Amino acid sequence: MTDDFPGPKTRAVLERGIPLFRNGLKFSDEMKKAGQRGFRSVRQIVLDKAHGDFVWDMDGKRYIDFQNGWATNPLGNTHPEIIEAVNNAHKRYGFHYDHPLRYDLAEMLADIMPGKALPRFNYEVSGTEAAEAAVHLALTHTKRRYIIAFSSAFHGMSFGAKMLSGLAGANSTYLEGWVGGVIRAPYPYSDEIPADMSEEQYVDYCLWYLDNHIPNCVAEKNNIAGILVEPGLAEGGNWIPPTSFLRGIRDICTRNDWLMIADEVLTGLGRTGKLWAVEHYDVIPDILVVGKNLSGGIEPCAGIAARDDILGDNDKFSSGSTFAGTPGGCAAGIKTLEIYERDKIVEQAAHLSAVAADIMGGWEQYDVVRQVRCSGLLMGVSFQKPASAEAGEENWWSARAVRGKMLENGVWAICDKEDTIRMYPALNMDEKILREGLAVMEDAIRGVDEQGHSEGNAPAFPTGSAGF
Ligand SMILES: Cc1ncc(COP(=O)(O)O)c(C=O)c1O
Repeated sequence: MTDDFPGPKTRAVLERGIPLFRNGLKFSDEMKKAGQRGFRSVRQIVLDKAHGDFVWDMDGKRYIDFQNGWATNPLGNTHPEIIEAVNNAHKRYGFHYDHPLRYDLAEMLADIMPGKALPRFNYEVSGTEAAEAAVHLALTHTKRRYIIAFSSAFHGMSFGAKMLSGLAGANSTYLEGWVGGVIRAPYPYSDEIPADMSEEQYVDYCLWYLDNHIPNCVAEKNNIAGILVEPGLAEGGNWIPPTSFLRGIRDICTRNDWLMIADEVLTGLGRTGKLWAVEHYDVIPDILVVGKNLSGGIEPCAGIAARDDILGDNDKFSSGSTFAGTPGGCAAGIKTLEIYERDKIVEQAAHLSAVAADIMGGWEQYDVVRQVRCSGLLMGVSFQKPASAEAGEENWWSARAVRGKMLENGVWAICDKEDTIRMYPALNMDEKILREGLAVMEDAIRGVDEQGHSEGNAPAFPTGSAGF
């Protein structure tokens, strides 16, 4: 690494990863090249501890946590009540399938599902497995073979979930031949809008594609099980769909007798300022996928909720791995939902969303900022390509320059794409801390804007998703 950030202890741990992890061999080479070209090393930290709204690196430097365990800590880091509930469950049950907590949590979830219309639940370990399970449920319920999913969508990292996802690039390279049953459709808004089409026209086109192009040219309408959609495309770049799109999907599904599956792994349980993101659109899906926040940031817990007639009696659907619905995971979910109710967490999230929207609303004035894209506390900022990138220069990472500056100044955010920074603060973050973190971010944007957004170019650190 080429300068004095992060500190020596953090750096020492990061360097230990070079011979151990993915792309380690490439990494030192890339770092050397970056140094020779005068670029700063990528900003990366390793945590020594996490608590509440903050994390600390190995050198004791404190950061405001906008990364939020990749949006899995709805109540902040290491929440003591959730830890206690999980510990108690561990002590009492260890790992067993047949414990009462899975019933308790399923009852609580049935009560809070959109329109109370999805009363049946199936536990899974991760969002990935839950998304896959939702699709298998749809195929077996309808006895049909195709599922429609979207460009730029993300549903997880397993073999199956990668096929359902539409992220371009390395995520699905060499899997192209395996996606037989998945029909990909365009998602609004995105960078893929054809020239001269307005965003509204593009939404119409996307709906037309679902309603006409697919059943007429791709697969028989009666062989399509449903549409899998994120009501806020988080990993794919924080694209927030307009109301007409989600309502259009609901309508198309109803008319064609297809199932609407909402993947709310990231958007669900308050992230967007409502309990479920589909509430912004006033639609009720037939199957809803949940994960991340349900863990309370302490113990994995995920699953699918579905209509009674879909999950009540389906002997072709099978799912649920060894660790699905563990006592610890269910205890985390139960305590998390209890705290949501007691502390009015969704209302807090809605308030913070308004605060953030107010602050970030003015950021498009900076030349380097392309768009501010938020749905509540699902917060993203995309950045402009500099002229060098337009001319074919590959390494144009303005977003990383901003994110690096933020990190140096004590704010930890996500930047896993060339052009976007994402932030997922805790839903109950102290308002003062949220304002402070966003002020640091705006300073970083201003700084990069003034420098003509070139500094900070650097290769990705090799340790996978945590490595950016
Ligand atoms: C919408 C969505 N679905 C599924 C997943 C996969 O969840 P997990 O990483 O828990 O397997 C993610 C993860 O980011 C996600 O954002």
